[in-house]
Amino acid sequence: MYKYKDMGFRPVDEGDLEILRKNRNDSSTLLNLGGIDMVSSEQQKSWWHGVSRSKSQQWFCIVKENYDSVIGVLRFQDIDPVNRSVEIGADIFPAYRGQGFGKKAYQMALEYLFNHFNMHCVYLQVTEFNETAVRLYKQVGFVETGRIPASIFRSGKYWDKLIMSLLSEEYFKK
Ligand SMILES: CC(C)(COP(=O)(O)OP(=O)(O)OC[C@H]1O[C@@H](n2cnc3c(N)ncnc32)[C@H](O)[C@@H]1OP(=O)(O)O)[C@@H](O)C(=O)NCCC(=O)NCCS
Repeated sequence: MYKYKDMGFRPVDEGDLEILRKNRNDSSTLLNLGGIDMVSSEQQKSWWHGVSRSKSQQWFCIVKENYDSVIGVLRFQDIDPVNRSVEIGADIFPAYRGQGFGKKAYQMALEYLFNHFNMHCVYLQVTEFNETAVRLYKQVGFVETGRIPASIFRSGKYWDKLIMSLLSEEYFKK
C-alpha cells in the first residue's frame, strides 16, 4: 500500500475484479475511454490473469478512509524502465466524483512515479470532449504535447485524442 494523505493505492486483487468491471461498464466511465467494449466477468478474469503477469503494466485500487474503501482504479501502462517513461490513467467511481479525489489521486501517483519509481516522462491520453479530465490534468502539471485528429468516434461525431505529458524536471520545479 502506498499512502498519501488520507488516500492510498494497492495492487488489484482477484476480489476487486467485480467492482472494477462494474465501474468500467458504467456508461459515465466507458464513454470517456478510448475503447468502449463492455466486459463480461469471464473476460474480466482472463484480462486480470494477463495483466497480473505483465511487466509493462500495473493496475491498482485507489483507496480512502482506513485504506479499505475502494474508490477508483489507477493504471500504469507501457512502463519503460530504460527510457523511464510511463502512460498513466485513473478513474474515480461515479459515487466519489467531484469531491477532489481524482486530483489527489493524480498528485499521489505523480509523487510515487517521480520520487520513487524514478520515471522521467509521464504521459496520458484523453479525448478532447472530456473537459473535466483535461482541467484536472492541467491542474496537476500536464501540458498538451500532441493531438491525434478525429481518432475517437463518440456521440455521433469524430473527436481528437490529446496526448498530455509531464517531465520530472517540470514536476520538481513546482
Ligand atoms: C476524470 C475523473 C478522474 C476526475 O476525478 P474527480 O474525482 O471527479 O475530480 P476532482 O473532484 O478531483 O476534480 C478535479 C478537477 O476537475 C474539475 N472538475 C471536477 N468535476 C467537474 C465537473 N463536474 N465539471 C467540470 N469540471 C470538473 C475541476 O477543475 C476540479 O478541480 P477544482 O474543483 O479544484 O476546480 C473522474 O471524473 C472520472 O473517473 N471520470 C470518468 C472516467 C474518465 O473520464 N476517466 C479519465 C479518462 S482519460
